[in-house]
Amino acid sequence: MNDVKKYIDENKDRFLNELFELIRIPSVSSKDSNKDDMYKAADWIKNKLLADGAGHAEVMETEGHPVVYGEKILDPLWPTVLVYGHYDVQPAEPFDLWDSPPFEPEVRNGKIYARGANDDKGQMYMHFKAFEYLLKTNQLTCNVKFMIEGEEEIGSPSLGKFCDENKEKLKADVILVSDTSMLGPKIPSITTGLRGLAYMEVEVTGPSHDLHSGLYGGAVDNPVNVLCDMISSLRDDKNKINIPGFYDDVEELSKEEREEMARAPFDMEEFKRHIDIAEVNGEEGYSTMERTGIRPSLDVNGIWGGYTEKGAKTILPSKAYAKISMRLVPHQESKKIEQLFKKHFEAIAPKSVKVKVEFLHGGEGYVSPTNTVAYQAASKAYETTYGIKPIPVRSGGSIPIISLFEKILGTKSILMGFGLDSDAIHSPNENYALEQFYKGIETIPWFYKYFTEMSR
Ligand code: BES
Ligand code: MN
Ligand code: MN
Repeated sequence: MNDVKKYIDENKDRFLNELFELIRIPSVSSKDSNKDDMYKAADWIKNKLLADGAGHAEVMETEGHPVVYGEKILDPLWPTVLVYGHYDVQPAEPFDLWDSPPFEPEVRNGKIYARGANDDKGQMYMHFKAFEYLLKTNQLTCNVKFMIEGEEEIGSPSLGKFCDENKEKLKADVILVSDTSMLGPKIPSITTGLRGLAYMEVEVTGPSHDLHSGLYGGAVDNPVNVLCDMISSLRDDKNKINIPGFYDDVEELSKEEREEMARAPFDMEEFKRHIDIAEVNGEEGYSTMERTGIRPSLDVNGIWGGYTEKGAKTILPSKAYAKISMRLVPHQESKKIEQLFKKHFEAIAPKSVKVKVEFLHGGEGYVSPTNTVAYQAASKAYETTYGIKPIPVRSGGSIPIISLFEKILGTKSILMGFGLDSDAIHSPNENYALEQFYKGIETIPWFYKYFTEMSR
């Protein structure tokens, strides 16, 4: 295994050029217009798995975008690792905010700039190259399966059913995922928690049509004003979420657990500087790391209604809309939160308006124990390549399918992310440092080695 660095060094340009081919396929899962690209990307991945040494690979239909499955079974008695990743990406709009075109990857000051550079094409592809290395050098000591999906960014609507129908095929001892972040380029960490999600869309209707704001303004409730009032009432002065029952299932961490969490390094000045804000704000009594890692949140993702074109139009609009998402912590159930939100939102609406509340998608959070073979193996792998023990960190992001894997397949996941929170995933100028990409390829083989040794 000590030749891994040399192998990467000798092949690093090819690795990068291969990844660029995949990035150039704009596999945006949320757009019907990109349906062909989803198949193009899936085919590309299947062919790469075969080229890298998989004994079998196929593009499998689902009710939505296809899943690519591949495997290398060396000995049925050996442990099996299932690698999960996603080839779909978020839309890249607005294009004009990018310094280089989102689907034409470019390296600038040591970073790959492109949609999907990190999330998740870049991170997923590290696994392909680690796999290639292990096979080429005859050092693979376990079985490997790959499940690369195309619907993660839209909430994995078809993957639960797919897993249910392919339980035998997906059977594994652990699911290995690189789709999260680490604390810093020199500070390895293992993601031990993900938040759940409940994503809602609301519509508030006032008068049956837009009205002249001079003739009616002041006498008729304006649905945009009403929606703003309703939204602002969802938070109290301590930044707690004001929905009855919302916190019922939230688990309070012990003093010891919170002290343990507080040991992870966090640079507040750097955090604020990076996003150009003067002050942070959030739920009273919790640190910034706690606010994202172990506490739920509620955010307006978008709000619209009335006249938004150039110039002025004096109206009292008929309708107002908002997309509101809630990040949930383990034990909160997205279905239950959806119900609580709906009931509350309808209850606080004044008689002057009608409201519609729709659930778009959601999923459950995840906590991964640290006393497992997989965690210990991952920890040792990072220690080998970074020289220090990784820190367990609860992330604020969501990968709803991870909790479903455990429910449907009965398999736990280990989240070995190599992204950085500053990589601008989902944003313009998404990027992924070459150093992170190559370090991931270097670290993953050690995981296989230790996992196999420790499983025996
Ligand atoms: N890879 C991210 C999730 C992530 C990023 C977790 C960084 C931890 C650290 C994933 O692709 C993602 O964006 N998930 C969505 C969930 C969803 C249902 C659309 C999210 O968190 O918004
Ligand atoms: Mn992702
Ligand atoms: Mn994402």
